[in-house]
Amino acid sequence: MEKQEIRTFGRRHGKKLSVRKAWLMENILPKIAPNESENTEILEIGFGAGEHVREIAIANPDKIVIGAEPFVNGVAALLSAICDDDNKIKDEYKNIRVWPDDVRLILNKNTYRFSEIWVLHPDPWPKARHEKRRLLSGEFLNLLSKNLATGGKIIIGTDHWGYYDWIVDQVSKTNLKINQNAPEIIKTRYQTKNMAKTSEPKYLILTNVN
Ligand SMILES: C[S@@+](CC[C@H](N)C(=O)[O-])C[C@H]1O[C@@H](n2cnc3c(N)ncnc32)[C@H](O)[C@@H]1O
Repeated sequence: MEKQEIRTFGRRHGKKLSVRKAWLMENILPKIAPNESENTEILEIGFGAGEHVREIAIANPDKIVIGAEPFVNGVAALLSAICDDDNKIKDEYKNIRVWPDDVRLILNKNTYRFSEIWVLHPDPWPKARHEKRRLLSGEFLNLLSKNLATGGKIIIGTDHWGYYDWIVDQVSKTNLKINQNAPEIIKTRYQTKNMAKTSEPKYLILTNVN
């Protein structure tokens, strides 16, 4: 990031990692760093504990999937789930790459052309004074739009309906268009918490206007 970006995520560290998870962070994480020379088709931003990244990796065995998440304990949880008892990556997860930091650091390079970008339950930052921390601003959506392949789509889900309306408003500042069809999506850990106490999440699919 050349300019100072506003921080969009909360804490980076939770409780102390187990010995196994600390080992995986040191030894497995560097081996699955995103590699710009690979044809990378799918990105999930803010994967939390990584259950949906694993789901898309299994559903798309021929595609490389990047998961981006700056929360160390979430990254460690994903590594733990994709490795077997011998700490080797399970065959079905060999297409996963992990970026353990702010996703804008890789998107700003403008080297990717993703066919799918997923953002499930971005931090809603519900207090008015925190609104500037919301990830899905018009500026960020424009950055996503530049990193989309022709015909590619951005899939967003949130159970915070106020944030949903705010995102719809931000889309009007971009060259993206809204397609309302909700996809079939698994329940992520954050969705299960449903802190917004809504009856169901709302989804948006965005595509570039060509
Ligand atoms: C509310 S949690 C949802 C996690 C997960 N998607 C789920 O549904 O359980 C939002 C996540 O987005 C991550 N996040 C926020 N800003 C981010 C950024 N700039 N780059 C990557 N991840 C980010 C946070 O660290 C957090 O884990």
